[in-house]
Amino acid sequence: MAKIGIIGAMELEVDALKAAMEVKNTVTRAGMEFKEGTLNGADVVVVRSGIGKVNAALCVQILVDLFQITHVINTGVAGSLNADLDIGDILISKDAIHHDVDATVFGYPLGELPQMGIREFIADEKLVNLAVESCKKVNPDLTVRTGRVVSGDQFISSDDVKKRLIEVFHGDCAEMEGASIAHGAYLNKIPFIVIRAISDKADGSAEMDYTAFEHEAAKHSARLVEDLVQKI
Ligand code: ADE
Repeated sequence: MAKIGIIGAMELEVDALKAAMEVKNTVTRAGMEFKEGTLNGADVVVVRSGIGKVNAALCVQILVDLFQITHVINTGVAGSLNADLDIGDILISKDAIHHDVDATVFGYPLGELPQMGIREFIADEKLVNLAVESCKKVNPDLTVRTGRVVSGDQFISSDDVKKRLIEVFHGDCAEMEGASIAHGAYLNKIPFIVIRAISDKADGSAEMDYTAFEHEAAKHSARLVEDLVQKI
């Protein structure tokens, strides 16, 4: 039986899911409140991890160790790096990379941690296909793309940095947790998927757009997740 960990960095990324689920148990660890119960008939644990890569990685490990999750879903918002993805649209991870890792001096490609043997964390194909299906059902008017999530402990809000993330990493969206969740899933040998709705274009207008659109975008991703969990 699947038990699905659902992580959002911020409360606004998980509040709708918490409201929709039947909560059976609440546990606090590392300052994170884990809500265990059912969502649309599926066994889930929903949690706000806090922002950034360390919070996200810790959160995955607690979900694995304490709740024995079998799958992990990351839901939330992101900056678009793909001209096809407008504000509100959805990017579903094919893979995820840490864009702030640099051990090139030792011969590793940008994004690859030494001695890991992996740079791109590959999302579960079945989850990706199911997520696309759910998105078309619940968000029929939005563009949905599969592609690459690039993550770092940085809010991307400049044309130059955006350009570099596209040129160096071929990213489709930028955010601050996805690759860490993918990394944690890889180490624990469980399938993962990152689902992100676009809140801004990760450029000079990002700060203003983000503030204006984060709530609406986060709802698009959560709505998709609510439908997806029953299919897993
Ligand atoms: N999350 C949403 N927009 C983002 C951006 N531009 N950079 C990093 N994380 C984000």
